[in-house]
Amino acid sequence: MHQSINPPQLPSITPYPGQSGTKKEQVAEMFDSISGRYDLLNRVLSLGIDIQWRRRVLKLLRPHAPKRILDVATGTGDLAIGLLQLNPKEVVGLDLSSGMLAQADQKVKKRGLASKIRFIEGDSEQLPFAQDYFDAVTVAFGVRNFEHLEKGLSEMARVVKRGGHIAILEFSRSRVPLVAPLFKLYFHHILPALGRWVSRDASAYTYLPASVEVFPEGEDFLKIIHKSGFAEARQERLTFGICTLYTAQKP
Ligand SMILES: C[S@@+](CC[C@H](N)C(=O)[O-])C[C@H]1O[C@@H](n2cnc3c(N)ncnc32)[C@H](O)[C@@H]1O
Repeated sequence: MHQSINPPQLPSITPYPGQSGTKKEQVAEMFDSISGRYDLLNRVLSLGIDIQWRRRVLKLLRPHAPKRILDVATGTGDLAIGLLQLNPKEVVGLDLSSGMLAQADQKVKKRGLASKIRFIEGDSEQLPFAQDYFDAVTVAFGVRNFEHLEKGLSEMARVVKRGGHIAILEFSRSRVPLVAPLFKLYFHHILPALGRWVSRDASAYTYLPASVEVFPEGEDFLKIIHKSGFAEARQERLTFGICTLYTAQKP
């Protein structure tokens, strides 16, 4: 018997099980439906820790001084806006959900940043950019929602330059004694109830823990990153391992 080096196939978790539509269509519908309350829920449900996680991405990219940066699955644009601190020439945020992008647009207009960032409606699996265009590509809490994970990652590999970097933030499953069961209780019971109440979407915050549960985290995800065209893939577990920052470079 030999051990497979391939990561396990991903079970397909969709936001609205039993309803029609592909994962991609349902994901866009779900984020459109919660877009107006997404930022509020993010801050409250993560107790503000999500801000620190996005800052880790900036810290990691800063020494490479990327000039053109793409933020895939940009949502309401928080990471894309943060990336401006690196003083790039160009930041593009791309997302499937027009509702999330409308929030992002409003935010940059309010802050007078509209000339510095472009938001584009589009699919991570078919990026509308030339090969080797960006110096860095980021994704925060997006890859778990991709319908075809490897397709999304290999598109990122196509549009980033040789020597360019990717940084991916995604939830992971804590293994820290005491923290893990407490977090699980919060993530699977308290968060869905609060999320349902505030977002008025019955499924969105049930889909969140369910999709984290099946996502190939840690070493499994590093293998997928390598397979998608990157080298030097590394992980840094953050906040007791409830979130992981993955980085890699295009060889
Ligand atoms: C949890 S939100 C994260 C938003 C933002 N990056 C943040 O950190 O707050 C996930 C986002 O991924 C987007 N998304 C999911 N699948 C996508 C795809 N295939 N292409 C582009 N965006 C996608 C969703 O529309 C949603 O806005």
